[in-house]
Amino acid sequence: MKTKKSYPQEVYLNGSWLKPEKAQVSVFDRGFMLGDGIYEVSPFYKGKAFKLQEHLQRLQYCLDEIGLDFDAFSLEEIIYEAIERAKLSDEDCAVYMQVSRGTAPRSHFVPEKIEATILLYAFPVTLEGFEKKTWDVMATEDKRWHRCDIKSTALLANVMANEEAIAAGFAENLLVRKGYFTEGSHSSLFFIKYGVVHTHPEGPEILSGITRAEVIKICNDLGIKVREKAVHIDELVEVEEIFVTGTTTQIIPVSSITHNNKKVYSASKDSITKKLQQVFIERTRS
Ligand code: PDD
Repeated sequence: MKTKKSYPQEVYLNGSWLKPEKAQVSVFDRGFMLGDGIYEVSPFYKGKAFKLQEHLQRLQYCLDEIGLDFDAFSLEEIIYEAIERAKLSDEDCAVYMQVSRGTAPRSHFVPEKIEATILLYAFPVTLEGFEKKTWDVMATEDKRWHRCDIKSTALLANVMANEEAIAAGFAENLLVRKGYFTEGSHSSLFFIKYGVVHTHPEGPEILSGITRAEVIKICNDLGIKVREKAVHIDELVEVEEIFVTGTTTQIIPVSSITHNNKKVYSASKDSITKKLQQVFIERTRS
């Protein structure tokens, strides 16, 4: 299903607060022309930050990886101002932030001494009630590049995968590389097999999800065994529960997987997922 999205009232662009229609960047901005930029989405529960430092740390990691000289932590004040200006200080919301390399005549090499383009805004998001949802999903080949740990604004492969799922009536597309599940088009992915939680190890094949890290922490705290090991599509017969995680997704159980027009998985249990959801709610709402 395609939920209707709306523009924010105001965005922060390079030091100014502007109406979205007035917020403009050059057609030669490298974010626009080359996808040469990094982004983050950070959640706020009733206006209270959840894992903001971790999100800024990941943004800094990604900027460093692409050699974009910018202090991610300098955005902290602007983030809170965005929430206040959007009148979301007491609401569930998220902040989108994007740093692109900046504007210069088109080149594949990185031009010297250009100023980064900074875009940031707060938007309302429904974070309540995720524990009542289940997702029927599909699985296709992971066609992304080999640096999925970099949260690049160049999301074409993710967009194609997600659109394929939504157009076919599925909630998400789980990506498979050489037979092994990596993650969703916009979510991290977990499997429970013989009571052990499995998830793809960190590295260039997945985004190091902030929610993923928190779920692993919750498992450790509850004494639930975690193996950071990729699951093969042929192993689905042994899988008892599957769930996806993400900043706005939080923790949602997968009820079925369709692959090549065939149902290859149907959930048989949900007890561990339910436990993790419950603790996640306590941690995000406390
Ligand atoms: N997406 N993997 C991918 C490919 C993602 O795009 C996301 C999040 C995640 C989950 O990461 P986190 O728990 O840190 O949100 C995993 C964001 C929310 C987005 O693109 O809007």
